[in-house]
Amino acid sequence: MKSREGNTLIVGLTWGDEAKGKIVDLLAAEHDVVVRYNGGNNAGHTVAFGGRTYKLHLVPSGLFREGTTCVIGGGVVVDPKVLLEEIARHEAQAPRLRQRLLVSSRAHTIWPWHSKIEALSEKHQGKGKIGTTLRGIGPAYADKANRVHAIRMGEFLRPEHLRRKVERVVEARNEAFTKIYGDPPLDAAAVWREYAAYGEAVRPMIADTTAYLLGAVERGKRILFEGAQGTLLDIDHGTYPYVTSSSASAAGAWPGSGVPARAIGQVLGVVKAYTTRVGEGPFPTELKDALGDQIREQGHEYGTTTGRPRRCGWLDTFAIRYSARLNGIDAIAITLLDVLRGLPQLKVCTAYAVDGKPLAEFPDDPAVLEQARPVLEDLEPWTEDISAARKFTDLPRTARAYVKRVEEIIGAPVRVISVGPDREQTIRRP
Ligand code: GDP
Ligand code: IMO
Ligand code: MG
Repeated sequence: MKSREGNTLIVGLTWGDEAKGKIVDLLAAEHDVVVRYNGGNNAGHTVAFGGRTYKLHLVPSGLFREGTTCVIGGGVVVDPKVLLEEIARHEAQAPRLRQRLLVSSRAHTIWPWHSKIEALSEKHQGKGKIGTTLRGIGPAYADKANRVHAIRMGEFLRPEHLRRKVERVVEARNEAFTKIYGDPPLDAAAVWREYAAYGEAVRPMIADTTAYLLGAVERGKRILFEGAQGTLLDIDHGTYPYVTSSSASAAGAWPGSGVPARAIGQVLGVVKAYTTRVGEGPFPTELKDALGDQIREQGHEYGTTTGRPRRCGWLDTFAIRYSARLNGIDAIAITLLDVLRGLPQLKVCTAYAVDGKPLAEFPDDPAVLEQARPVLEDLEPWTEDISAARKFTDLPRTARAYVKRVEEIIGAPVRVISVGPDREQTIRRP
């Protein structure tokens, strides 16, 4: 195996929206290939430069770097309609995107029945709902695991086969829609007309991306792995059942791209300077008060994909230490540090307690997590605007102390500090 040093993995250490998109865009300049390995258009990754902001859901956040090849790996679930809309929206700013974008023939696809079934299921759950993005992600992964009605990207290369399969799948789905949910059926012919056209348009981008990536590793190309969601939303290691349906930790990169984990040189874990969560599920450091509102407003914490207000709370280093160990991180990127400016107090959570007793480990039991209360440590707040800082020494003493304390608790060096949404608003540390 060629040197692994050039290969980097970016992973969110909490419940998503850690500003992975910004970090991927930044580091894409130092890599040849950017690959998404999990999730689908439930992700909303933001990239900002040159006074403009771009929101990405499926196309890897390296698209604006002309020298990179962008790969959508086999672990991603692809909604072809969303993919094509996104390419069309951004190709003026992303030169030759259609020639630089490869979509895995192994990636599973999202169809109208997936989002319909998800909406019906969430509605039926009522208060017990997961609070998903309603993009059909869970049902598409369920079909993948179930195999019978799953459709992979590669099947668009055989339209006649796919037309017949869509007829069969819609017929089976309509049974459930009409008989169980009392909902109107889907029209297979109409679905096929629409999706056959998407198939035509995506066909030139469909490739055996596993073979491509393995070849790229062998040729010494530098690969950047772009995780979607975050470790605490991982289907196996997250706060189940309030998680997404894919491997959203670094563990997903191997199956999701085909590149063996040992080819990855560096794992960079991304955290916000505070913690947020969208959707339902336990969140021990959540601030359900005016402070939480202040953080939400200062950080513009509204979902990139669904526009929902994000729940905001203190930085949860107890959860992050768990994620850091689970992902085997080498370094940390702290983002949105500027947002903490001017808070009347500043705290980080260093441990959880249940009935006054500290927990030794991040709980595996959702009922315990629900009862966990954060043990908080006070740090000194700052009032200065830090968004123009470009070196660590430009930061006020208090902000530097915050970063150093986080390093100390998590046990990994902070190599990147983001002080604003723009590409330029970044501090790199050796
Ligand atoms: P992702 O899903 O992890 O890529 O993160 P999102 O794009 O969903 O959310 C991050 C949000 O924070 C976006 O609106 C970014 O433009 C914005 N952002 C990124 N870095 C910074 C930063 O350092 N400071 C501020 N104020 N905003 C940032
Ligand atoms: P990025 O990549 C934040 C959350 C949803 C919901 C749960 C399950 O932008 O960080 P799903 O539609 O995946 O079945 O929803 O996961 N969720 C995210 N939260 N950022 C994301 O992606 C998310 N993707 C899914 O809000 O709670
Ligand atoms: Mg996001």
